[in-house]
Amino acid sequence: MNVTPSFMQHARPILGGQVNFPVSLAPMVGLSHVALRLMVMKYLPEGAVTFWPTEMLSSWRLQREVLGNTAETYRCASETHLVPQILGNEEAPIAESVKRLVDWGAVGVDINMGCPVNKALKHNYGVALMGDAGYAAEVVRMTKRNSSVPVSVKLRAGLQNDEEFLIRFVKGLADAGADWVTLHPRIGAMKRRGAADWRQIRLVRDSVSIPVVGNGDVQCLDDVFAMLDIGGCDNVMIGRGLAARPWLLWQVGERLGFAPPPGMTGRAPSTPEEEGAEFGKSCGHFLSLLEKYYTFEEGFKRFKFYLRMVCGWLEFGHFLFASTSKAKDYAQLREALEKFFSGPQSMVLRTNLRE
Ligand SMILES: Cc1cc2nc3c(=O)[nH]c(=O)nc-3n(C[C@H](O)[C@H](O)[C@H](O)COP(=O)(O)O)c2cc1C
Repeated sequence: MNVTPSFMQHARPILGGQVNFPVSLAPMVGLSHVALRLMVMKYLPEGAVTFWPTEMLSSWRLQREVLGNTAETYRCASETHLVPQILGNEEAPIAESVKRLVDWGAVGVDINMGCPVNKALKHNYGVALMGDAGYAAEVVRMTKRNSSVPVSVKLRAGLQNDEEFLIRFVKGLADAGADWVTLHPRIGAMKRRGAADWRQIRLVRDSVSIPVVGNGDVQCLDDVFAMLDIGGCDNVMIGRGLAARPWLLWQVGERLGFAPPPGMTGRAPSTPEEEGAEFGKSCGHFLSLLEKYYTFEEGFKRFKFYLRMVCGWLEFGHFLFASTSKAKDYAQLREALEKFFSGPQSMVLRTNLRE
């Protein structure tokens, strides 16, 4: 079934209108790799199309790497609509990175203007670019003139709370040719804590004509529709919440009239207990994907990091975290998972986002 729900008829087209589903996964270092993408993608409803990120990739490193051979750029041949994210501020490395990414399979490239770590601030990339609207627009122009695919920007509310600046900043990006922007409405210093001000998403969308993707603190089904309503955005990008609750894609699809994901029948898990049981299944699947794509060291580290990020949505997640922390290999990890999920578990709708 190929549905375009009425909601999407009002949305501004992303990737030339190929995207017909209003939710996407956020780029996250250590998380938005091939294994997590595939685990989440499994819950994408039949006929739904959305775009998929990578972890942020340094344009200085990419220009020297063989893409597809590094842990951050592993991909599965069946993956489509990949929009990797780059970090950069210089034309030569950006040009070479974009060329390599397009050869690798990118259908769009996203520029990071949100990373708040000290290194980014010191070297004028990530959210530091929000300190200089003119140069940020120049980074978009240099990326556009070296790209055969659409270019988007993921940004924050800014370095300080100044809505007039934010609007001027985004208009500058749009004038420079950005095909869409994603707004995470928290200022740099807030990192990923505190309330994301979804109202600012609407402010931005009302002031430009390109698509605007909203992001920040969306954790459950009602949050998705609340962000669409409050932010008026064209797509809702979810990071931690979608890693913890990948079947959120199925839940959203169900509400919009999409068929279940391929190979799945019935209705999406929705009660706290159904979600708890599904968490166990998706964790097991995720572990298998990590084993398939990564060396033991790479996969094991990523699984533990994943659990640290998502345990908060399980009623007794701290027990799972404690028991899996002791595991030294995959067999022990599986044993801890099986033990924990052998009894009924439940998930909470929302948790305090700390990391
Ligand atoms: C572990 C982690 C790594 C992240 N790495 C990136 C990144 O590489 N690029 C980026 O633009 N944002 C990154 N973010 C921010 C997310 O994309 C997103 O903007 C933020 O988590 C808010 O969305 P959420 O509340 O849905 O998680 C990261 C977030 C987390 C939790």
